[in-house]
Amino acid sequence: MIDFPEYRRLLYLVNDNLDGLLPGADVNSASLSESMRYSLKAGGKRIRPVLLLAACELAGGDTTEALPYACAVEYIHTYSLIHDDLPAMDDDDMRRGAPTNHRVYGEATAILAGDGLLTSAFEVMYKDMFMYFDKPEMLKKRARAAYELSKACGCRGMIAGQIADIEAENVSVSPELLDYIQVNKTAALIRAAAVAGGYIGGAGAELIDSLSAYGENLGLAFQIADDILDVTGEEKELGKATGHDAELRKATWPSVHGMEESRRMMSELTRKAIECISSYDRNTDFFAEIARGLARRTR
Ligand code: IPE
Ligand code: IPE
Ligand code: MG
Ligand code: MG
Ligand code: MG
Repeated sequence: MIDFPEYRRLLYLVNDNLDGLLPGADVNSASLSESMRYSLKAGGKRIRPVLLLAACELAGGDTTEALPYACAVEYIHTYSLIHDDLPAMDDDDMRRGAPTNHRVYGEATAILAGDGLLTSAFEVMYKDMFMYFDKPEMLKKRARAAYELSKACGCRGMIAGQIADIEAENVSVSPELLDYIQVNKTAALIRAAAVAGGYIGGAGAELIDSLSAYGENLGLAFQIADDILDVTGEEKELGKATGHDAELRKATWPSVHGMEESRRMMSELTRKAIECISSYDRNTDFFAEIARGLARRTR
């Protein structure tokens, strides 16, 4: 589990702002707002927004400046989970310890709740940028952050990974294709969160490269851990069903490489992630602790 004081501090900051920054409800579309907030408030580790805030601080920035982008990445992630769980995708009944969005609100509302969360992410980031029109340098950092996040969740990132994931069900998959799936569906957004936080904090090219390499390695380790936990984890602890990947004959790290090799790869990527960030000459213990904490979940 990842639970240490520094993590908790940033987690609280995220949780305190997720609802307030999300666009409000109209009377005539109250069910949309309710279903969006249902999935958002169900919980979750908030690893992406916490990473974004931590990267901003590492770069010397103030977390309050990065909050709209941190919340945006959690809106994007939560939308991706709602859609990932739909009957046409992974068809899951439980998420974050509660019934999935479509089980509560129906498929049409769940699709729209996902759409609402995704588009709200961009609304929130653009709204923030409006405040910096007379400060081009500040505006540039924010535009860069928003671009990284949009690229990572789009058709050259998460969506590309998701289509390849769906098409890889029931067929034999090469290690290269598996890598493509996992890097895109999961690592891309985690990497983008770290990089976006770095940009907002004012990071130079060297730190951006370190954050990018850290995020990419951590992101892949993260999906391997998710695949391992689908085999070995406890439903109660994970808040979602286990054994489902095998049922759907998904291409996962254990199904392609075996469990032992999956564990070895996950540890190796975790080690690499820590190495990539620790070359930076400030205290990066926080990032190492996140990486170790995520890997520990599979023990
Ligand atoms: C689950 O993500 C989906 C993957 C990309 C593996 P998380 O494990 O971050 O889910 P929450 O946000 O903690 O619920
Ligand atoms: C989900 O991967 C990746 C995205 C939501 C983009 P999984 O399908 O493995 O995630 P879980 O196991 O349902 O959380
Ligand atoms: Mg999936
Ligand atoms: Mg799934
Ligand atoms: Mg999974």
